[in-house]
Amino acid sequence: MKAQIIGTGAYVPEKILSNRDLEKTIETSDEWIFGRTGIRARHIAAKDESTSDLAVKAAQKALKNAGMTASEVDLIIVATSMPDMFFPSTACIVQNKLGASQAAGFDLSAACSGFVYALSVGEQYIRSGTYQRVLVIGAEVMSRLTDWADRRTCVLFGDGAGAVVLAPSDADRGILSVHLHTDGALWDLICVPGGASALPPSEKVLVEHLNTIKMKGSETFKIAVRNLENVALEALKANQMTVSDISWLVPHQANIRILNAVSSRLGLPKEKMIVNLDRYGNTSAASIPLAFDEAINDGRIKRGDTLLFLAFGGGLTWGAAVVQY
Ligand code: ACO
Repeated sequence: MKAQIIGTGAYVPEKILSNRDLEKTIETSDEWIFGRTGIRARHIAAKDESTSDLAVKAAQKALKNAGMTASEVDLIIVATSMPDMFFPSTACIVQNKLGASQAAGFDLSAACSGFVYALSVGEQYIRSGTYQRVLVIGAEVMSRLTDWADRRTCVLFGDGAGAVVLAPSDADRGILSVHLHTDGALWDLICVPGGASALPPSEKVLVEHLNTIKMKGSETFKIAVRNLENVALEALKANQMTVSDISWLVPHQANIRILNAVSSRLGLPKEKMIVNLDRYGNTSAASIPLAFDEAINDGRIKRGDTLLFLAFGGGLTWGAAVVQY
């Protein structure tokens, strides 16, 4: 029994922070940021908005789109690197705010690969027959994990949420495969070193901003390109497909140069790649469902299309999902 996606939804906070705005607070330029990353602007959560608020708004749209009520949800998985609090999980808070009283819920942490990891877990519950309706959400308030004095990282990230509803497939369509990979030896390429059990909150953590994202950008860049290409080829081979079978590539939105390098190595025309990072930046686990929902709503992605989701992030983690939408 395959799992199919029966509804999608997304939400970004109202406030937009442009590259021009950033020019006023750090030594940077729109030219540098756009030229190196493809990003022009990102959305920033309001002071009273937390990750669960973004997740709930995306989830409500996905449920409406699926023609369902919250009480019909069996399981909520929230992929996030920036939960509302250590515990309870953000999924518990989302369950309450949604009124999904019958649903179990938990969070999943795989940094920017979180959505593809969460999709794989949700898919397994459907395949096994355990659950009939699974809400998979990627939601992040990256702006509160960001060191706003570090120009090498603060220009990259944004806030947002995307959600999908999974149900048993009544036809051939659905999630055809998911391939996941991890290389924990490279954990320190992208990490938030402080503020948790390894380095609890202290004056040093706050003064040295160790509770914010640290990234070795250029090393990460090269590995991201290689690993995304490899996992894409692995996914295609497993489905006896070639690149020409893919209607749309829906990649994690980290950097346009990474995406262009991956598409040209795969021989996939750039016109077949969904890109929205110019307006949202890197929203980590939210980026794939956000791009996916947007491309459905503007009419690019249609029922029956074959999609390739590609994710890469801290961990290191990476993965690919092939979906017959
Ligand atoms: N404005 C102006 N100059 C800058 C800025 C900025 N915002 N940031 C860095 N620079 C400077 C640097 O100081 C450096 O100057 P120097 O040569 O005098 O020291 C120069 O620009 C080049 O810096 P690099 O870091 O080498 O720039 P690079 O071309 O590698 O681009 C970037 C940096 C955009 C971060 C890129 O490396 C990248 O996208 N890496 C991959 C990110 C990624 O995929 N992350 C995975 C997901 S994240 C997650 O999982 C949470």
